[in-house]
Amino acid sequence: MVKIKFKINGKTYEVGGKYGPDVSLNEYIRNVAELRGTKAMCHEGGCGACIVTVRAPMPPNNAIKTFAVNSCLVSVLSCHGWEVTTVEGIGNKIKGYHDIQTRLAKFNGTQCGYCTPGWVMNMYSLYQSKNKNMTSKEVENSFAGNMCRCTGYRPIADAFKTFAKDADERLLNKLVDLEDLDIMKPCGLECVNKCTHRDKCFNDNKIEGESSKSEEDSDEFIHVNEERMFMVKADTHKWYKAYNLADAFKIMSQGNYKLIAGNTGQGVYHVTEYPPNVIDIFNVAELKGFTIDVNLILGAGMPLSEMMELFIKLSNQREEFAYLKQLYDHMDLVAHIPVRNIGTIGGNLFLKYANNEFQSDVFLLCETVGAMITIAEGVNRDRRMTMPEFLRIDMRGRVIKNILLPPLSRNCALKTYKIMPRSQNAHAVVNAGFLFKFRPNSNFLEKVRIVYGSISPSFIHANRTEQILIGKDPYTDETLQLALQSLYREINPVEAPPEPSAAYRKMLAVALYYKAILSLCPSNRMNSTYKSGAEAIKRSTSHGTQTFETDVSVWPLNQPIPKLEALVQCSGEATFANDLPGQNDEVFAAFVTADVVPGSVIKDFDTTEAFKIPGVIAFYTAKDFPGENVFTPNNIPFMSDKEEILCDNKVKFYGQPAAIIVADRDKTANKAAKLVKIEYSSISRNRPLITIDQVLRSPEKSTRVRMDQTVEPTDMGNDVKTVVKGEITMEEQYHYYMEPQTCVTKPSEDGMEVYSSTQWLDLTNVAVATCLKVPVNSITVIVRRLGGAYGGKISRASQVACSSALVTHLLGKTCRMVLPLIVNMKSVGKRVPTKCTFEVASDAQGEIQYLKNTFYQDAGCSYNECLTPLSVMHSHNCYDSKRWYIQANSVLTDKYSNTWCRAPFSAEGVAMTEYMMEKLAFTLRKDPIEVRLMNMAKENNPIPEMITQIRKDANFDERRQQVREFNRNNRWRKRAIKLIPLTVDIFYTGNFNSLISIYHGDGSVTITHAGIEMGQGINTKAAQVCAYMLGIPLDKISVKPSSSVTSPNAIVTGGSIGSECVVFATMKACEILNKRLQPIRDKMGKPAWDDLISEAFAGGVDLHASYMFSNLTDGKPYDVYAIGILELEIDVLTGNHDVRRVDILEDTGRSLSPEIDVAQIEGAFIMGLGYWTSEKLVYDGATGKLLTDRTWTYKIPGIKDIPADMRIYFKRGSRNQSGVLQSKATGEPSFCLSTVFMHAVRDALRSARMDAGYDDDWFDIEHPCTVENIFMAAGHKLEHFTLK
Ligand SMILES: Cc1cc2nc3c(=O)[nH]c(=O)nc-3n(C[C@H](O)[C@H](O)[C@H](O)COP(=O)(O)OP(=O)(O)OC[C@H]3O[C@@H](n4cnc5c(N)ncnc54)[C@H](O)[C@@H]3O)c2cc1C
Ligand code: FES
Ligand code: FES
Repeated sequence: MVKIKFKINGKTYEVGGKYGPDVSLNEYIRNVAELRGTKAMCHEGGCGACIVTVRAPMPPNNAIKTFAVNSCLVSVLSCHGWEVTTVEGIGNKIKGYHDIQTRLAKFNGTQCGYCTPGWVMNMYSLYQSKNKNMTSKEVENSFAGNMCRCTGYRPIADAFKTFAKDADERLLNKLVDLEDLDIMKPCGLECVNKCTHRDKCFNDNKIEGESSKSEEDSDEFIHVNEERMFMVKADTHKWYKAYNLADAFKIMSQGNYKLIAGNTGQGVYHVTEYPPNVIDIFNVAELKGFTIDVNLILGAGMPLSEMMELFIKLSNQREEFAYLKQLYDHMDLVAHIPVRNIGTIGGNLFLKYANNEFQSDVFLLCETVGAMITIAEGVNRDRRMTMPEFLRIDMRGRVIKNILLPPLSRNCALKTYKIMPRSQNAHAVVNAGFLFKFRPNSNFLEKVRIVYGSISPSFIHANRTEQILIGKDPYTDETLQLALQSLYREINPVEAPPEPSAAYRKMLAVALYYKAILSLCPSNRMNSTYKSGAEAIKRSTSHGTQTFETDVSVWPLNQPIPKLEALVQCSGEATFANDLPGQNDEVFAAFVTADVVPGSVIKDFDTTEAFKIPGVIAFYTAKDFPGENVFTPNNIPFMSDKEEILCDNKVKFYGQPAAIIVADRDKTANKAAKLVKIEYSSISRNRPLITIDQVLRSPEKSTRVRMDQTVEPTDMGNDVKTVVKGEITMEEQYHYYMEPQTCVTKPSEDGMEVYSSTQWLDLTNVAVATCLKVPVNSITVIVRRLGGAYGGKISRASQVACSSALVTHLLGKTCRMVLPLIVNMKSVGKRVPTKCTFEVASDAQGEIQYLKNTFYQDAGCSYNECLTPLSVMHSHNCYDSKRWYIQANSVLTDKYSNTWCRAPFSAEGVAMTEYMMEKLAFTLRKDPIEVRLMNMAKENNPIPEMITQIRKDANFDERRQQVREFNRNNRWRKRAIKLIPLTVDIFYTGNFNSLISIYHGDGSVTITHAGIEMGQGINTKAAQVCAYMLGIPLDKISVKPSSSVTSPNAIVTGGSIGSECVVFATMKACEILNKRLQPIRDKMGKPAWDDLISEAFAGGVDLHASYMFSNLTDGKPYDVYAIGILELEIDVLTGNHDVRRVDILEDTGRSLSPEIDVAQIEGAFIMGLGYWTSEKLVYDGATGKLLTDRTWTYKIPGIKDIPADMRIYFKRGSRNQSGVLQSKATGEPSFCLSTVFMHAVRDALRSARMDAGYDDDWFDIEHPCTVENIFMAAGHKLEHFTLK
């Protein structure tokens, strides 16, 4: 039988009929090759967790290339002849680690570690493909497709830039310093000086590129190059590998086929069904390569990366193709490198053909320059046509063969734009191309091409404007206005939620024409202050500094070290819940969701279609739970409402899980889930109430609003000179943990093992036992680590755990349940939205006389996790609040129950107050910092002093002057610099134990604690404290997985305090052990640790101790202080922004682990930036359906969205007498500082609005400050767009 042959890490794999086209390389690597280092999250090319390296002979000349691919997008059947390398293949515990892995670990470039293998493999691919010859800029530009929610990217960028040929001296010095760290042991053995793996572990001098080869293999490729078509028959499908068009046409003539080139298109338009004949045309000779007659003819099968390389080459070599450099720059913003490596021209254009609304950049560029396209209608039967004609023909039985890019004469001027919601890896909000052909030696236009994408499915050219411009000089104000008005008339975008509004896209499209004119117009014909509006904002490289003190006398406490698990995270050896090796006969579960208007009532389920799919095993509903259908039992703290695991009757929100379907494959289960028909006894006709405003206006207000707290003022001023009123609304945020909600449940002899991605052992333990009606002690919950959580896995994880557990309970089999991103997003709650209405009165100087704040927070469909009093507490910030009245309300909406999300309630509390301060200062025309200082709490408040310090350290006043100067000289680019202060209350909520075991065999130590390691470095901090307390080296200590057996009854890890509590418990447990050891120490004098332990063992000393931190006895609340300064620049003509610099001064006490605390501060701040900028959730108002439920539509910040310059300073000489070992929590506070972005953006826009002639009145920008909201707040009018 013919088979697809390829290698993974040097081992040959052959795939015959067992796997169909829907089996991705990712699934194969993880589930068949059992290499679980490669991760997955989105399965659509949007997150980068799945990246692997491929070496393969590439057509047309079969030159061997190394490149990165998203393994989730590649069908395993596409891999014929490939050599795939996964993260395990480049370095591991046994063979030694690769330089990329060690450097990333040393630079602290990994927190939860779930994204890390993808970063490592993208870097590895880059390094190999560029032959180790890259600039820092190239490195930083190459990770558009890798998302990381934890780190804030800075340390990753630093680590990888050390490989650049122009690497910054400071980074290289840091690398040398980090070399001496002992903590990165590869094997769990003592390795400081004697470790046999040490040379492998610290092989910084050379890249071990070949370390992946296994003994059984050689460098040779599998012999696949016969280049004769072959077919692999897989159950219902036939997969044809074609090498020429004739063969492809032969199969196509049978009908019912699908062509596949790079197969990346499924990342945009998901492919759920394959027809019986699938034809892999990636190697079809006629579609490859390029020729130049007059035109540049590019084979449609050319990958976009190859096309870009060619563009750069030709633009340098041939004048008539110099314009290709511009196309290169545009293409650099299309998808990202792993997609472009195999995604082809033809594939992109066909997506546009099949989905006219697609904002294809390839189509846009081709059409702007007037390219033609060749369609093969049969062997040697070609038809040439324009791009728009191509969209209208019938493509059945046809293949895109090539495109023809024309030469452009010197009389042509070209400009293209792609405006995106973030810097990279996002489709266009609007893309545009402008080609002006001038009459020879004149300023008058002979021909014009104006092309837009993302206007409507049918809109391509601004035909009328093109006509109007012919014969005109485009660089006069008169022509400009003529063109702008014409464009305004003829561009009429359709509303296409969740895409930005039609109004924005219309005005943006017009502004882009103006931008193009600014770019092309000779300088002497325009106002010089307009010139900077010509280009789109583009980030170059970023850098950062981290300034902290460290007290060597207490090391390893307070020692700056990377995470203990950093190396195993960088090598993929670190395990997550779904990395449990495949079990015999295991099954996979998926939720069937009630995709219906909330309020509808479920009657029954029809599973007929679902059970027709081979591999579907079982189906369960709420009635199948032997116990209670509840995942938030009431005997768990904070869980006031019992929430159903599966909807039993009335649907609470669109997308609520209603049933579970079980199959022998994850994809099968998810496919079957969609085929289950839910029958409803009634479908609600009511419009769902999905916002706070809707509830407040509805007749149901009285039953849906719960007043939680009022705080009455204890004082009132009587010198009221100004009264300021206002409102601020803050929206939701998706946690975007890279590891989806996951649970694997495995039968055991006394019950069940539950490998859950939960932040809360106890809740999961009790909930599973309750729903199965089994004793709690029969359920063992085990958590090694989470791939990020940020609050999203506090209570929601137990819903998945209960569901998976039900399957194991009823079938007696291991069950895996991993929520696909769309399900995860539609059925799991988010950050609570907040609406605040306020009135502030002050005297003439700004001292507040009274303040009234009534706010509402959107709990979703249950009150669980909605703790509005916390927002009350944090709204005080650093101010004297005795004159403040605050009323806090929770609101029930028809949405999933919202959850904690990094800095929950504190971020919102601080943002409300800071907004009031800004508005008050604005109204009084006072310096906002002075107004803030005037209202500060007077006692024990270090904030004023910290403001003075950071103003000096960050050069604030001088930079503020520079900003003003810049704004005077630039009409369309505006800058602002803003400062905000922060005080966050830290308090404790429950119990955490820590259990220390010392082994007499060698004196090594293990810690098992009740906290959950989810990237915040809890294990490292615990180990540092343990090493300090016991007086032993760090590498003697190993931290074991957390479990409900060793840590029963533990409270949730969250709210920044988990690390502290665990560290406290660890410290106390060590004290117990030290006390027991003291008599032996005294007897022995100054014994070596190992001798001490041997003696203690012989003397019958109990070498195992535990302590439980209790909030009732051990924790004393305290405050964390911080100041943030942010400087940004906005492009007024698009709404894009660039954060130029951020300075954060934070009081960390005496940090337990400075590198880890820096990482927490940076990561939290960047997550906050996402909240205030690009992360927007959009719902369908009629049904409550979430429309932004994918990486395609929901955008967190990427590597080029972080501040260009990020400086972190720890407050000097700080000691926290209330905290653990004088430290303070760092996980969340800096998130609250990110609200400064909103103030800065307002300030920048204020300057733009005043230039436009608006009065200097207060104006609001809708939250979040997306490109749309920034642009719209500028108040553009056509007459503002002038040249003079
Ligand atoms: C994360 C991500 C981000 C992206 N961002 C952008 C972006 O910003 N701008 C943009 O323009 N694009 C973007 N894309 C789209 C990307 O450019 C396309 O996925 C890619 O070019 C498709 O090429 P492919 O070879 O993988 O096509 P495939 O996935 O193999 O095929 C796509 C479709 O084209 C058909 N097809 C392929 N080749 C031919 C041919 N020669 N003749 C006829 N039919 C053919 C296939 O049958 C299939 O229906 C993005 C994609 C992803 C995954
Ligand atoms: S899982 Fe492949 S890119 Fe997200
Ligand atoms: S370390 Fe990158 S997502 Fe957690």
